[in-house]
Formats: sequence, structure tokens, C-alpha cells
Amino acid sequence: MTARPRSKRGTRERLLAAARSARRSAYAPYSKFQVGAALLTTSGALFTGCNVENSSYGLTNCAERSAIFSAVAGVGPQMKIQAIAVASREGTPCSPCGACRQVIYEFGPNSTVIFLSQTGWQELPIEKLLPEGFRLR
Ligand code: THU
Repeated sequence: MTARPRSKRGTRERLLAAARSARRSAYAPYSKFQVGAALLTTSGALFTGCNVENSSYGLTNCAERSAIFSAVAGVGPQMKIQAIAVASREGTPCSPCGACRQVIYEFGPNSTVIFLSQTGWQELPIEKLLPEGFRLR
């Protein structure tokens, strides 16, 4: 039997479940704001990440970048993001910060970002969240 391709809704639910699960690993003793992220690569692999804070606050790594770096480490520099989901405390909005938007753009200029905005759940192209993202080439 061949596997049925996952629906858009199925992908979103799967990514959100993985992001919520990853959030449980967050190291956020300073902000107490635990975040998880999960991404699907264009070749169908799933990677997760959580925020990792530091007593030197600026060294904090967001959940999104943790997931992306883990994906690059896992499949190599050609890794391309198809979709990435972010989950913080239930019902608390959490849109990716500017730095993470740029990193998402680097590895997924056509990717979709799933997050809870101030006005509800959003599923938006990164191009919309980061118009004119920086690229070197
Ligand atoms: N944070 C994330 O991990 N992802 C986001 O999209 C927004 C913010 C983290 C960074 C820090 O550990 C905590 O949330 C509070 O800013």
C-alpha cells in the first residue's frame, strides 16, 4: 500500500504537536517563556528545537534557530525548509523574532511559517513576514 500524501492540515497538526513536545525541553530559567519549534524539510524530514537561554542574556538561542541548526547538522547544508511551526505557552502569541525570520528565509525562501499571532493562528509565507530578506547571492 502506498502512503497517502499528508493534507495541509495534517502537516500543520503534526508540526504543532512536535513543536509542543519540543517546548518541554526548553531551557528558559530567565524569561520563563518556553518555546518549541518544529520544521519539515522539503524532502520530508522533521526536526525540532527549543529555546536555550544563557545568564549572558544575549547568547540566548530561539527555538526556531535551534530547530534549523539541528536540521542543518542532521541533513547537511542543502537543507531546505518547507514549513516551520512555533509553539509557546498555550494561548500565548509567539511570532518568530526578526533574527529568526532572516534565518528561516536563508534556508526556506518559499517556506510557510505557522504561529499564534495577536489575532489568531497564522500560516504565512516567510516572504510576507520578512519582505526583502537579505541574501548575499
Ligand atoms: N523566543 C523563541 O524561542 N522564539 C520566538 O519566536 C520568540 C522568543 C525565546 C527567546 C527567549 O528565550 C524567550 O523566548 C523570551 O524572549
